[in-house]
Amino acid sequence: MSVLSGSWTEVLYLVAAVCFILALKGLSGPKTARRGNLIGAGGAVVGLLVTFLAFDLDHIPLILLAIVVGSALAVPAARRVQMTQMPQLVALFNGVGGGAAAVVAILELAAIGAGGDATSDRGNLAAVAFTVLVGSISFSGSCVTFAKLQELMTTRPVVIPGAAPLLVGGLVFSVGIAVWLFAVGQLWLGLLLLVLGLAVGVMVVLPVGGADVPIVISLLNAFTGLTVAAGGFVLHNTLLLVAGTLVGASGTILTREMASAMGRSVGGVMFGALRGGSTAGSTAISDRPVKSVTPDDVAILLGYARKVIVVPGYGLAVAQAQHTIRELAEQLEAKGIEVAYGIHPVAGRMPGHMNVLLAEANVPYEALKEMDEINPEFKTADVVLVVGANDVVNPAAKTTPSAPIYGMPILEVADAQQVIFLKRSMRPGFAGIENELLYDPKTSLLFGDAKDSLTKVLSAVKAL
Ligand code: TAP
Repeated sequence: MSVLSGSWTEVLYLVAAVCFILALKGLSGPKTARRGNLIGAGGAVVGLLVTFLAFDLDHIPLILLAIVVGSALAVPAARRVQMTQMPQLVALFNGVGGGAAAVVAILELAAIGAGGDATSDRGNLAAVAFTVLVGSISFSGSCVTFAKLQELMTTRPVVIPGAAPLLVGGLVFSVGIAVWLFAVGQLWLGLLLLVLGLAVGVMVVLPVGGADVPIVISLLNAFTGLTVAAGGFVLHNTLLLVAGTLVGASGTILTREMASAMGRSVGGVMFGALRGGSTAGSTAISDRPVKSVTPDDVAILLGYARKVIVVPGYGLAVAQAQHTIRELAEQLEAKGIEVAYGIHPVAGRMPGHMNVLLAEANVPYEALKEMDEINPEFKTADVVLVVGANDVVNPAAKTTPSAPIYGMPILEVADAQQVIFLKRSMRPGFAGIENELLYDPKTSLLFGDAKDSLTKVLSAVKAL
């Protein structure tokens, strides 16, 4: 028996919806992100409790069992995941959401059909058709993105012969089936649409190269939001409608922001490989000579500098060197040397990756400078320490039209007096392309794991 009245249900749903909006607001800055996350989780708990208290639910033991199994799988996964594996975890969770929305819509379709003339409920049928198609695309597409990022399959674009006509044909056919489903409301059409959606999801994501996969995750996330919103329509649930719309809208904005930070269009990311443009570079390792230095050399260079700019990248996250770089910066500042951090919007593997890492190591927010702010400052820097970054400083983005990163704004580290790269080998960055800056006369390389190298540089600086 339901415990909450209809008005209380609506009021509490409103409270949960406000929590979701405040959560998004909080997540927009590193200082407030943790609080925003908690507020969002609080909103979700309110939504869950209201659902239990306001409706006469069937199969409560099964629902509780599903919650226990889901939590038992998700909590350890989320706790154990490395920061660098976060995008694939998000992909997996997102895919499950889209898949769940599609399954709920299929069950609703069966219920509508069992209740008599399915076609009498046009609004619901439209929402069901949309949810089944987009939810299944989101599920299978997210599974492929997970497999790519987890390197369970190649991260390079996979373009099978006839991929473009197959994809267009699959999409047109699926939309046709969705319209037919809307017209007649038959369950078998819903099931066919589910299978077609799964196939289209795989076909959409296979040709996307590894470097672009996080953009696709964000797009699929937006898709899942829209299916959840449509699910809210089907189930007459205001909270699902609001939450889904928020996820759909914020996911769409994030997708556009990420694509533009990489100097790409969303269409180019999704269909570039199908149109014949490359979205992947090579993984060849160069054997051209470079100037390599020791930690002591770096310490001496730093000791003579007046201004040092640190450019962190994906390798900083891999090496977990954020604490060591902060210590080194503090040591330099104690010697009267000015230190700033240049943050590229797509450094690392997820939005805000570097900000989160450096905030975790208590680097003051004021020391982190966005690309537009720091670029004019490189001219006045004596030394730039490029710690595990590569693509975000690669001049090929400006000079090589065939490069996958062509058009992406970069950090102009070449303007500084000296550039020191900390990396382990001559392997290229994520985009898989050579970086000419490594061979520039003003560049030196300190080979090794970034944390080890920085620890040695730190001791040498202390000994100066
Ligand atoms: P990358 O270009 O991927 O370069 C990372 C560098 O770190 C590599 O040169 C690698 O060289 C080095 N490295 C790896 N592990 C290391 C370790 N333990 N110690 C020292 N060095 C290490 O990184 P980036 O400059 O940050 O660029 C990010 C890339 O990801 C861009 O292509 C961007 O478009 C793409 N991307 C980012 C996002 C977001 S939102 N951040 C989303 C999608 C795609 P070695 O292997 O030789 O050590």
